[in-house]
Amino acid sequence: MKITVIGLGYLGATHAIAMAELGHDVIGIEANPQRLSDLQNGKVPFYEPGLPEALVSVLAKGNIVFKADHDSESLEADLHFLCVGTPQLPGSYAANTEYLHSAVQALAPYLREDAVVAGKSTVPVGTSAELALALQAATGNRPHLVWNPEFLREGTALEDSLRPDRIVIGVNDEHSETVMRKVYESITDLGTPFIVTDIPTAELVKVAANSFLATKISFINAMAEIAEVSGADAVQLAQAIGYDERIGNKFLRNGIGFGGGCLPKDIRAFMARADELGVGSAVDFLADIDAINLRRRSRVVDLVTQELGDLTGKKVTVLGAAFKPDSDDLRDSPAIAVAQLLQAAGANVVVHDPISLDQVNLNYPALATEQDLMVAATDADALVLATEWREYREADPAVLAAVVANALIIDGRNALAVERWQNAGWRLIALGRNVEASI
Ligand code: UDX
Repeated sequence: MKITVIGLGYLGATHAIAMAELGHDVIGIEANPQRLSDLQNGKVPFYEPGLPEALVSVLAKGNIVFKADHDSESLEADLHFLCVGTPQLPGSYAANTEYLHSAVQALAPYLREDAVVAGKSTVPVGTSAELALALQAATGNRPHLVWNPEFLREGTALEDSLRPDRIVIGVNDEHSETVMRKVYESITDLGTPFIVTDIPTAELVKVAANSFLATKISFINAMAEIAEVSGADAVQLAQAIGYDERIGNKFLRNGIGFGGGCLPKDIRAFMARADELGVGSAVDFLADIDAINLRRRSRVVDLVTQELGDLTGKKVTVLGAAFKPDSDDLRDSPAIAVAQLLQAAGANVVVHDPISLDQVNLNYPALATEQDLMVAATDADALVLATEWREYREADPAVLAAVVANALIIDGRNALAVERWQNAGWRLIALGRNVEASI
């Protein structure tokens, strides 16, 4: 099929490349000139394993092109995917849907009457109805607008797009459903569930899923708070409850909590939208989910202070800057927040990360960075593991112990082999655990 993908950020770029991999003829539209020229030159503008190779391959096959704007070729497209961002509005919890509105205005002159428009961006429920009205006003036709939420995770984005665990489509008309079934045929042929709903349900699926995931993480972090004062172990607790299939063992890793471009923003936008709909109290609990999550960041500072006393002039090396491993995304990163809190408490903070230090230098110039792990750790009074990169999990604790001033490490992700570090002479404090007691 001939399709356009509008907005080539994380979601759009991955989706465009995945669609081209499936054999569709893809036109990617991106307004940001740097991002556009990167993609045209075969460069993925963010770190995502496997995606650069896939981009080079689809460019070589000739089934993807990137443009700044629509042109007459867009009129040939049977389907247009809307993938622009819906960031949190400054000074508010609500999502900003202005880029979606601009995208449909720009598309309107190039929209064939039978072409389908599929929204993939994460939106407040009701957005699709507003966009349909805008499109109808601009084209004079009733648009074939569907909602098709995207569940990809950073770090496994291409795999999640090519082999999703489900495809959800919110539709109003049969023609749109037929077109959507066709575009995903090679995926559903493998047995992937294809769920057809009304449009508001499809809009809600994404925020509901992300709210549930955030709730799971904050639940185990709340248990970690209890564990820390009662001598219990939240890691063992998660394992023990996770064997119950109704609970499941995924997304129960306690630590410094969730961050990134989705979970924090989505739960806040959900609260704002529910308020507008007059049912804010239905999701009031999400405010607690957010608060528990943010508390875990300050817990790290309390622990370092408890161990070292006044932090003024103490060197604390923060291991990790990205919001999770295999990503260079710093949006709402718990690791960055911890580094900033430690710095605000007077510590001399040095941040290390295997791939995202350029972004740290650009966006957080007040934070000192060091790209060599051994140099970053030299003379440190404490290390804080904030992102569970493999490089840290596999680091030799004896080698690190030899260069630090004080062998203290706070494991903010419960990622380290406790005994190995203790045997190398480290005092290790793991969030939600009483690991001293186990030796
Ligand atoms: C998330 C959703 O998983 C995905 O379906 C959606 O499309 C976009 O939002 P992503 O933001 O890539 O994906 O990250 P995810 O893997 O969900 O992790 C989110 C955050 O939660 C990370 O900061 C991670 O470190 C943290 N996390 C995750 C925990 O603290 N504990 C866990 O058990 C799992």
